[in-house]
Amino acid sequence: MWKWCSLIEGGVVICFIVLLLSYGAGGLKWLRLSPALRKRYTKLPKGSLGWPLVGETLALQHCLMSTTPHSFVNERRRRYGNFFLTHLFGSPLLASTDPDMNRFILNKEEPLFTSSLPKTLSMVVGQNALLMLTGDRHKRIRRLTTSVFSPEVLRHHSGRIQQLAISVLKTWKGRKVIVADEARQYTFNVALSSIMNVGHTEKAELFRVKFSALRSGARALPIDLPGTAFRTALQARKYLAQMIEEEIEERKRSKDIRYDDLLEKLIQAPEADGGETLQNEEIIDLVLSSMLAGFDTSANTLLFLIYYIGQHPNVLHDLKIEHQEILREKAADDHQPLSYADYKKMKLTQLTINETLRIANPILSLHRRTLQDVEYNGRIIPANCAVQVWLRSLHTDPTLYPDPYSFDLDRWQGKPPTSNNFIPFGMGPRRCVGMELARMELCFFLHCLVTMYSWELAEEDSPRFFPDPGMRKGSWNRRERKVRELTRT
Ligand code: HEM
Repeated sequence: MWKWCSLIEGGVVICFIVLLLSYGAGGLKWLRLSPALRKRYTKLPKGSLGWPLVGETLALQHCLMSTTPHSFVNERRRRYGNFFLTHLFGSPLLASTDPDMNRFILNKEEPLFTSSLPKTLSMVVGQNALLMLTGDRHKRIRRLTTSVFSPEVLRHHSGRIQQLAISVLKTWKGRKVIVADEARQYTFNVALSSIMNVGHTEKAELFRVKFSALRSGARALPIDLPGTAFRTALQARKYLAQMIEEEIEERKRSKDIRYDDLLEKLIQAPEADGGETLQNEEIIDLVLSSMLAGFDTSANTLLFLIYYIGQHPNVLHDLKIEHQEILREKAADDHQPLSYADYKKMKLTQLTINETLRIANPILSLHRRTLQDVEYNGRIIPANCAVQVWLRSLHTDPTLYPDPYSFDLDRWQGKPPTSNNFIPFGMGPRRCVGMELARMELCFFLHCLVTMYSWELAEEDSPRFFPDPGMRKGSWNRRERKVRELTRT
């Protein structure tokens, strides 16, 4: 049965690639072959649309899989400057690694730009995902969401997050672990408890299993046939939607019990801001999309963080000092959980997170689309054109960061990051709403890791960024069994 499914899926993949390439050809025509359009857009940024049909997709993939993943952009930046034309995954697009241009794109939404998500993703998480909303609706839901992840609220959750870190780390005692798996488990638990707190119940476990199917399908080709990852994701979505709906109805029935999570905030939205009641369908999309936005990004950052610390024993040593000092200050009462004030003391830890996000941000680029012709610095971006802000390339620009690929905390000494040169959480109206939660969960995990264990990396490996972020030796191993191991010493 599975063989047949794979064969059918293989055949459909080929058809899909042909379709994609034809679409790519359309894109090429749009920019290269139509003299009328070419004349109108004489001020297009420079660049290359690459090979007929496939554009520059293969070149990008080749670089991302190599040990120099940044070379695709570096080469084009040298040839064409910081804002260049290319053609990737079936569509012409303009890529920016220029701080001013990034600021312009990310700060100016309507009427100039709008957010644009890959189609598969929007089909799986739903049309009401925060990243898909625009205008006043986006502003309202963003306000509600931000209020759940604000420092004022998070200060009441520090103990819970620490407990979640400890419960994962306790199982590490005396064994080798695959950090990729452990990081995913921890960040999933943190995201679920902040977004839809259902505790450590069977429900939570079922949610995890179904959510993992949804997550895999969100990156697959949109082929809705039996046995495909996309079909499985759509089925998982249905199941999850039903679970969330039941939870919403149960909470509406038991009015006296109040929860401290995003779901509750969305159910009680009219009470919070006097606006209209949100429909169940909207709430479901918002819960699923927030889970997706918050879980993988944090898991990959944690994985890379542990990798870089393991690679730099001096950093691990200094981190131990920072965290043991925090423990010492709490010594009078060691049953006191970590507090928000403790989190604020984790200065070196924050620097280590910054340096990790600079070199290995799990997000390659942010996607926008122009709503009209846009003129910037003498260049024209045509209407309905895909525009991408390339975060990792900005963060490894040698003019901003000398010796950009070396992991070096000293580069931040006396030079705090600015929104000009460091935007791992984006900027402007779509800046990450979960930034503070992400930083706090990373800090707390590191605190527990360095104070509970002595450890080292068990084998040589390095980060990879394609087909998705992870460790290189696990590239073709979907279960990532061999990815990364730590030993307790
Ligand atoms: C290290 C971890 C994380 C990184 C690097 C990260 C990065 C980002 C970036 C770059 C954006 C901007 C997207 C754009 O402009 O198109 C974003 C948006 C967003 N993030 Fe995060 N994020 C992280 C963790 C989280 C967490 C923990 C949550 C929630 C639980 C979260 C929820 C969101 C949401 C809902 C948006 C959409 C905001 C909007 O459209 O207004 N993120 N994130």
